[in-house]
Amino acid sequence: MLHRSLAFTSDKSKDLQQQKIGRRRSTSSHNVITDDFKEASRSILGEIYFFTLDQTSQVLENFKSSGVGHDAGSLQLPTDNPIKHFNNAGCSPQPLPVLQKVIQHNLLESVLGGYLAAEQCQNERDLVYWVISKLINAQDPLEIALVESATVAWTRVFYAMCDCLNCGDNGTGDSDVILCCEAEYAANIVAIEKICKERDATLIMIPADKGMVDMDEFTKILNGEWSYYEFYEDTMEKGKKILNPDRIRMVCITHIPTNSGIINPVYEIGDAIEEFNKKRKKGKKHPLYYLVDACQSVGQIDVDVAEMKCHALSATGRKYLRAPRGTGFLYVKKDIADKLVPQQVDHAAAPIKRVPIDEVEDIEYEFPEGALRFEFWEKNIANQLGLGLAVNYAIKKDMGWIEEQCITLAMELKGQLRKLNVATGGKIYVHHENLDHDSTQCGIVTFAVRGIDSASIKEDLLAFNFVVSVVPPTSTPFDSSNYGLNEIELLRVSLSYFNTEEEILDFSSALKTIISDEN
Ligand SMILES: Cc1ncc(COP(=O)(O)O)c(C=O)c1O
Repeated sequence: MLHRSLAFTSDKSKDLQQQKIGRRRSTSSHNVITDDFKEASRSILGEIYFFTLDQTSQVLENFKSSGVGHDAGSLQLPTDNPIKHFNNAGCSPQPLPVLQKVIQHNLLESVLGGYLAAEQCQNERDLVYWVISKLINAQDPLEIALVESATVAWTRVFYAMCDCLNCGDNGTGDSDVILCCEAEYAANIVAIEKICKERDATLIMIPADKGMVDMDEFTKILNGEWSYYEFYEDTMEKGKKILNPDRIRMVCITHIPTNSGIINPVYEIGDAIEEFNKKRKKGKKHPLYYLVDACQSVGQIDVDVAEMKCHALSATGRKYLRAPRGTGFLYVKKDIADKLVPQQVDHAAAPIKRVPIDEVEDIEYEFPEGALRFEFWEKNIANQLGLGLAVNYAIKKDMGWIEEQCITLAMELKGQLRKLNVATGGKIYVHHENLDHDSTQCGIVTFAVRGIDSASIKEDLLAFNFVVSVVPPTSTPFDSSNYGLNEIELLRVSLSYFNTEEEILDFSSALKTIISDEN
C-alpha cells in the first residue's frame, strides 16, 4: 500500500526571487477605507471603550464607582516596558485598545452575566465578521467563521473537504492525491497523513526552489507532465511514475511558514488551479480544492482571497494580528461553503429545524448559509471582540505599510547577521537567506549559530530583554528534511511594524556578546 511520495528538492536554477511572486500582485489594492467602513469602524473601535447603550454604561459606571475591579477605559500599558517583542510570529502583544476591549467585555459579563452581555453587543459581534471580510477582501461576511485557532480553522474545513476523497470518480484506477508544499506546517501534514492512511490516498509534496513552490514544476504537475517516485510498503520498492492530474483532489499551501521568511506564490497557484478547474471534465462533483494556511501572513502582509482564488483560508488572531490568544478565523468561499458538510457539528453548526411531533419522527437539521456551519455554540465573546478590534486596528494602520515595515526591518536584521557572520568567522547560518529588498521574503528571520544550542541563546537573549522563539525541525518536516536540518533547532526572530532599527542594533550587539561569551 502506498501512502506518501518521495519528497525531493528541485535543482532548478531559475531565480524565483526575481519574480516578486507570492505577494499581492495588483497595484490597485482594494481600498477598504470606505465610508461604510469608517462608520462601522467608529462603532467597533469607539471613541471610548464602553458600549453605547446608556443602561450598560451606567452599570459600568456604578461598578467603577463601587471601587471593585478596574476601569478598562482608563487602563494604560507601562511606558517603560523593557521587553522587546521579537516573537510576533509566536504571539504578538495586544495593542492597548484591544486589551481594553477584552477587559471591558469581561467586566460587562461579570456585571450582567455572559448571555445578557453578549446580547448587548450583538451589533459589535456582527461587525467582527464584517471587518475580517474587509481585511482579506472576502465578498461576504458569511464567508467567515470565528474559531479558536488557525489549526481549528484549517482542520475543520480540511476534513470537510476530504469528502472528495474516495468518491470513486477520479477515473484513473489509482489513489486520490493531496498536494502540499515543502513549507507546509506540521499540524497540516499530520492531518493529511492521517487521512491518507484512512482513505488510501497519497500525499505528494510539490517541488520547491529555495523553499518556495516552484511554479514551473507545479504547472507541469497540473498538465500531467510530471513524474514522481512512489514507495510501496509491501515490497519496499520505489518506482517512478507520471502523476495523472485527475488523481489530484486538493492543494494545501502554507503561505508563510513557521520556520523562515519565504512567501509562497499563492496568487500564481490560485490562477493555475482556476484554469485547471475550468478545463476539468464536466460533471465532476468537486473542483480541485485549494486550501491556504495564512496563519503567518494575515496581519503581516496584505492578503486578498479574491485575487488568491483560494476556496478556503485559515488564520490566527494572536500572531501578527495582535489579537487575544484563543482566537482565529476561517474563510470559505460562499458557494463552496454551502456545499461542504463539516465532520463535527453541533446545534449551532446545524440547527434543528423543529421539535419532532412524536417518537418516530426524525430530528431534522439544516446548515446555515456560508461558513457559520464551521462554528460551535460556545464562544469567548470578549476575545472575539478583541479580534475584531485588532483587525480594525491593522486596517487603520494600513496593511501595505505594515508589510513594508516588516520586510524592511527583516532586511536590516539580515544585514546585521551577515556582519556578525563575518566577525565570527562564519558561525551564522540564516535559513533561506534572501537579501533582496524587493523580495519574496517577510518579517520572519530564522538562523542558527554554529556550535551553540539555539535554546540556550534564546535564554541568554532574555537576559537582554529580547523575547524570541526556537522552532524545532519537526514544525516544517519536509523543509527541514530537504535542507539537512533534521537535528537543528532554529532561532526565530519575527519582526513587526512596531519594532525599531535601534532594537535590531541592540539585538545584534547582545547576540555578539552571547557568542563571544560562549567561546
Ligand atoms: C504556518 C502556521 N500554520 C499554523 C499554525 C498554527 O496556528 P495555531 O496555533 O493558531 O493553531 C502556525 C503556528 O505557529 C503556523 O506557523
